[in-house]
Amino acid sequence: MNFNDLVNKRQSNRAYSAKPVEKDKIEQCIEAARLSPSACNSQPWKFIIVDKPDLKSKIAQTTSNSLLPLNHFTNQAPVHVVLVNEGSNFTAILGNKIKNRNFSLIDIGIAAEHFCLQAAELGLGTCMIGWFNEKEVKKLLHIPNKKRPELIITIGYPSDKQRIKKRKKTDKIVSFNKY
Ligand SMILES: Cc1cc2nc3c(=O)[nH]c(=O)nc-3n(C[C@H](O)[C@H](O)[C@H](O)COP(=O)(O)O)c2cc1C
Repeated sequence: MNFNDLVNKRQSNRAYSAKPVEKDKIEQCIEAARLSPSACNSQPWKFIIVDKPDLKSKIAQTTSNSLLPLNHFTNQAPVHVVLVNEGSNFTAILGNKIKNRNFSLIDIGIAAEHFCLQAAELGLGTCMIGWFNEKEVKKLLHIPNKKRPELIITIGYPSDKQRIKKRKKTDKIVSFNKY
């Protein structure tokens, strides 16, 4: 698969088969994420792989509630990966302060996409989940108080169809040499 095909193949999968995910495939996705770039090579991430069915169901429950038609699919995915923000290193923290940025969030986003692209290459489906009950996730996974889970990635064999991507037109998002 060339890179463009891979980018098109990766989509947010919101339906999964019950087929379990091979451990070595999860490891390959983690390796792709581990090799991501980060500000000052800070690598401000920890990946918690949740594959015990009971615990995974509890994590899935944190992504939705009965009032919102959101994320009710998550429990179909046999594995959830929780990305915890470990905080930037000293140089990146300095950079954050001087430049008024939060580089760690950018870093985690890049690592998440590395993970998802590798998964797509292996025939797996993923969905990044930003809507979850942070307090509950921290409690379930014993995440220290000062650290924040930023994202959950559902992963499994997808059972939804390939969609055409809905995106803004290129001329709306690109300009040359001025805003
Ligand atoms: C930071 C972030 C948070 C997201 N949170 C959710 C979510 O809570 N639930 C969901 O179904 N999709 C979520 N998505 C997926 C987006 O809706 C999806 O990427 C976007 O609609 C583009 O579709 P595609 O990924 O299929 O190309 C999230 C994506 C990102 C990058």
